[in-house]
Amino acid sequence: METHPVFVSPGGNLYGQPSPSRFSVGFARVVLMPAFLLSTFSNAVQLIGGNITMVQGGTIVLPCKLTDTTESLTQISWQRKTREKLQNDDFFTIMSDGPQFVNGHDKRFEFIGSFDDKNGSLQLADITLLDEGIYTCIFTLFPSGNYKTEIPLNVLVPPVTHVEDNLPILGDDEVSLATCTAASSRPPAEVRWLTGTLADKVRATTSSIQHANGTTTTVSSLLGVPSREINHHLVQCVFTSPALSKEETVPFTIQVYFSPMEVNIGERSKDSLQCVTEANPKANFTWRRSGQSWPQSAVRVEGSTLQFLSMSSDLNGLYQCEASNLYGKDHGYLYVHVTSGTCTACWTLFSILLSLIVIGVAAAVWYLPKSRMSPRALKGSREQMQRVCKTSSGFEKAQRVEEQETVEEEEARSL
Ligand SMILES: *[C@@H]1O[C@H](CO)[C@@H](O)[C@H](O)[C@H]1NC(C)=O
Ligand SMILES: *[C@@H]1O[C@H](CO)[C@@H](O)[C@H](O)[C@H]1NC(C)=O
Repeated sequence: METHPVFVSPGGNLYGQPSPSRFSVGFARVVLMPAFLLSTFSNAVQLIGGNITMVQGGTIVLPCKLTDTTESLTQISWQRKTREKLQNDDFFTIMSDGPQFVNGHDKRFEFIGSFDDKNGSLQLADITLLDEGIYTCIFTLFPSGNYKTEIPLNVLVPPVTHVEDNLPILGDDEVSLATCTAASSRPPAEVRWLTGTLADKVRATTSSIQHANGTTTTVSSLLGVPSREINHHLVQCVFTSPALSKEETVPFTIQVYFSPMEVNIGERSKDSLQCVTEANPKANFTWRRSGQSWPQSAVRVEGSTLQFLSMSSDLNGLYQCEASNLYGKDHGYLYVHVTSGTCTACWTLFSILLSLIVIGVAAAVWYLPKSRMSPRALKGSREQMQRVCKTSSGFEKAQRVEEQETVEEEEARSL
């Protein structure tokens, strides 16, 4: 009786029946290859019965070996039907005088078998999604004819991941805070958010779009009310896909954007002022003196700090700090009165200053419609000024209206 050729392919002996010992070398090569790739490319590699699955960019072996025949081998040929070549056609043949390409060379293929051993295995490097399809290995024997086996190749495409800040502006309505995208993945990637302590304040919605090339883009938006409470909270976006060797976690700090709030001018040192505000992104500061500019040589501005280089009564006046960012601006005011010498001198200046303040405030009211100054503020300033004389501090302050109210209340209570 004739011997029956036996095909060794991923669908056959490889994972099915025990292989004859003659075949064990080829078998080992086929099985070890993915293990080797696993460590070299750190891609997820799977060889599932009859099925080769590899991540785009990886290298695979299309195994094909014939055993148990004494017939003579005429030719080994390979056909493929892939995403790129929709018609099944020959692309590679191996004869006793060596291998050759049919219909064009592709240097990614390498013959790693041996004609004499009836091993037609091919290696394919740098695979792309377009290589996905069915590869057919055909042995032509004399006299019995053709024997073939099909090897499906599945290509996994890892997602292109990114997290986008949706630039939420402080408000009361739910908006999208950030978006996580896993673009063109095959199979579709899973996208989810880890929100920790914010779990009851935010939620996620996920959608996906399928592309003609077989990949899917998955988008997950993190929704929530853009409050100051959630500002600066750290969340994480987690991407999972069989095409990724491990879960990918991208940290994201929620940013709620708002214009400068509660602008205050404070005393930074004996001869400098600082403008303080809360804003996101950080505010830029512009200093002015109401009604008149200051002597250039006497003042230096460094961002939020206003530095007085020489202390003289030329510097007296109502100072304004404008804090601004992309989203708006706000102002803070401070009345500066430079005192010099003893309290006697101070008291002398006081009456002059009073009239100056009146002029200054009048100017401020006219010149700055958004001014925080008010007649009450003026009253507060006057009280402060007397206090300054007692302490001989370098500055005279017109404090913010709210603070003056407290002062007045306290004084009313003490009466
Ligand atoms: C190969 O594997 C993929 C995914 O693992 C599966 O969807 C497909 O049906 C399998 N094909 C064959 C021919 O076994
Ligand atoms: C698949 O198609 C999408 C959309 O056209 C494209 O962005 C992506 O790069 C393609 N992916 C592959 C692997 O060809």
